[in-house]
Amino acid sequence: MANATDAGGMTFERVGDYAAARPTLSLADCPDCNGTGLMRTKTQQNGREYEIVSPCPRALLQHRANSFNAARLPAVQSGATFESYKPSNAEQHRALQVAKEFAFRWPALRGFVLSGPVGTGKTHLLSATLKHLSIELGVKVTYVEISLLYSQIRRGFQDGKSGGEIIGPLSQVDVLALDELGKGRGSQFELETLDELIARRYNAGKVTLFATNYSLKPPEERAQRGYFGTETALEAGKDSKLLCDRVGDRIYSRLCEMCDFVEFPGATPDMRRSPSMAGRKRP
Ligand SMILES: Nc1ncnc2c1ncn2[C@@H]1O[C@H](COP(=O)(O)OP(=O)(O)OP(=O)(O)O)[C@@H](O)[C@H]1O
Ligand SMILES: [Mg+2]
Repeated sequence: MANATDAGGMTFERVGDYAAARPTLSLADCPDCNGTGLMRTKTQQNGREYEIVSPCPRALLQHRANSFNAARLPAVQSGATFESYKPSNAEQHRALQVAKEFAFRWPALRGFVLSGPVGTGKTHLLSATLKHLSIELGVKVTYVEISLLYSQIRRGFQDGKSGGEIIGPLSQVDVLALDELGKGRGSQFELETLDELIARRYNAGKVTLFATNYSLKPPEERAQRGYFGTETALEAGKDSKLLCDRVGDRIYSRLCEMCDFVEFPGATPDMRRSPSMAGRKRP
């Protein structure tokens, strides 16, 4: 089979807060495997008859749909693909190319960070990348919006769960897309949580993709250069437009090694305000 969707297609829809994939042909009704996921065929060799057991393509498709659903992509991104992304400037062209190459050459390339103003398709490209990896290749992927992660961990504290219990699975997944990097109050708790997650993935050699509204310009662009540890970032990062100020030198340094950087210009149009969105169907 050339790819998973050849087995009959996949429908993408929103289920509650998340995007969901559903194989067009259900496994339960499969005439080839009767819902077992295994096909039995007979073959003759040297005058003897053998039974061969092989996985049913519909079971593979269901497995790929399950991988996509486990990613917990935002419901509004259920229709996001590389084909539906329309670049309006050179940097958006490059972002599309970087994301596609990453997905099509998996696992050869390092991750990427997309930086830009609101509504410029950063989450769209993260979603298209995770969709390709999970549906076409069955890679284990997860999407997380950073401020939702912080509130999930805070809620977990009330139930007696440690931050590590929530971060643990996120540090192990093959590809993690961390959205809205730099967002939040920049508190000690938030920076330590982020530091632990990124350091664990960095140490394990895991690939991480990021999107942010903050600029990727290096720390040299700061007025005064000095070591920027967590404590300094707490103070100086509050009003900064630079990601390195928002996350501190330790995290920024690791991002430089883990990722290709793509930054959209400030004038990149906000597609949410585009007339082409008027009358668009709900995803
Ligand atoms: N270049 C593009 N081509 C096609 N659709 C786009 C493009 N840019 C954005 N969109 C669409 O616009 C909407 C907003 O995009 P998205 O949520 O990816 O923006 P974002 O850059 O992540 O914004 P924010 O910084 O606010 O999170 C989505 O419906 C997305 O599919
Ligand atoms: Mg976004």
